[in-house]
Amino acid sequence: MALSFAQDIRPLFRDTPDVHTMKEFGMDLSSCDDVKKHAEAIYERLEDGSMPCDEAWPKAQIARFKQWMDEGMAP
Ligand code: HEM
Repeated sequence: MALSFAQDIRPLFRDTPDVHTMKEFGMDLSSCDDVKKHAEAIYERLEDGSMPCDEAWPKAQIARFKQWMDEGMAP
């Protein structure tokens, strides 16, 4: 079964600081539509380790985000 935003991706973003902080920059990481719209930029930041700004995601978590993108970003 394809990964879904609600089940597999949303839980990767912390309410604080991730969702809370990025809302101030006009990106709602709790919104599937917003994450879809900015998926490439988000993936780039996750891969280069610059976001989240406190600690980089484990490789498996980044791979899961990429898989969700490749599978068509189901809600
Ligand atoms: C998984 C969590 C996060 C993701 C995926 C993420 C993603 C991004 C992306 C894609 C941008 C670029 C926006 C653009 O190009 O328009 C950005 C900017 C920014 N984020 Fe995050 N972010 C996350 C968490 C955080 C946290 C926890 C902080 C602060 C503690 C933070 C602070 C910032 C700041 C200050 C900017 C604007 C300055 C810059 O471009 O470096 N973000 N973020």
